Amino acid sequence: VSVPASVRPPERLLCGPGPANVDPRVQEAMGRPILGYLDPDFVRMLDEAAEMLQAVFRRGDGLALPLSSTGTAAMEAGLAALLEPGDTIIVGVAGYFGARLCEIARRLGAALVEVSAPLGKAVPVEALLDAHRAHPDARALAVVHAETSTGVRQPIEELGAALQETETLLVVDCVTSLGGIEVEAEAWGIDYCYSCTQKCLGGVTGMAPVALSPRALERMRGRRSPAPFAFDFELLRRYWVERPPVYHHTVPAPSVYALHEALRLVLEEGLEARWRRHAKAGAALQAGLERLGLEILADEGARLPQLTAVKVPEGADGQAVRARLLAEHGIEVGGGLAGAPPLWRIGLMGANASEEVASRVLGALEGCLG
Ligand SMILES: Cc1ncc(COP(=O)(O)O)c(C=O)c1O
Repeated sequence: VSVPASVRPPERLLCGPGPANVDPRVQEAMGRPILGYLDPDFVRMLDEAAEMLQAVFRRGDGLALPLSSTGTAAMEAGLAALLEPGDTIIVGVAGYFGARLCEIARRLGAALVEVSAPLGKAVPVEALLDAHRAHPDARALAVVHAETSTGVRQPIEELGAALQETETLLVVDCVTSLGGIEVEAEAWGIDYCYSCTQKCLGGVTGMAPVALSPRALERMRGRRSPAPFAFDFELLRRYWVERPPVYHHTVPAPSVYALHEALRLVLEEGLEARWRRHAKAGAALQAGLERLGLEILADEGARLPQLTAVKVPEGADGQAVRARLLAEHGIEVGGGLAGAPPLWRIGLMGANASEEVASRVLGALEGCLG
């Protein structure tokens, strides 16, 4: 076999559903020397990363750590740890990632109660609470906070308040929300909250921060059957939090460095300031899209600033426009996911959440439509 040339990825402006471009500090951090997973200098970084994660999740109690995994694996890890075969779970479905939660629950042998909403709308909290009244024995209720397939924000706070005194744990997908819009894992009563690093947190793909409440940890300890080994949160806690650390798996050092730097950037900026920056960038983009006569999929009051799903107008070829944006402008935007009408999904996440990036995307899109 002839050895190919070393990879030289082109520069892109990543304005799709993630990954997003990262700050040069994050890029540089990944190239630092690899350390062993029990090296005291490495362990100090783990401590700092876990502490910063508690702050970013706004969780003072329970457990926060990053899994060495994608967002999907964090979704699966949580359901696998919280549910046992035959347990009932209520899932709010307003798009592709809600449907993925259902698929994972089915594969785990859970009894699934699906509460759906049309694309572009959030799942009504009342409908979820009605389902809970009909299934008070449900062991978990899961929703997607920021549905990346539609650009819709799901209200969480009332759900958490209603489930606090029940046996039903609240699971929330914060993959696209954490670092971009308000997430209050503890105050909102979220029992298992998972995210990933390549979106609004401004890191690179490959780690999935999670935060667990004390009652989620208790549920895991009381299991009849053991949880999957690779995602056993008690074993992960012994490595990430207990000192001295006990080996569980070889944590990828470059990913930890990138996450550590990304979290430093988040906390230096301040969470509220970061949410405001995402809100401003998203508002500028959405106003510009409407000026171009384009229709945004999400209901006006339910729109995410960091991810906007726009309907491809009659007569335009959505795929061809995306190809031109990439080839002529170096800009990546997403298309629709299975089951959705033709869409462009435009993300302004992390380092890309600025009015300047919004106007670059708008200018390029206008050029490709004209
Ligand atoms: C809301 C949501 N959940 C889960 C995932 C899955 O994350 P990953 O692609 O890192 O597995 C994504 C990815 O885009 C997502 O947007």
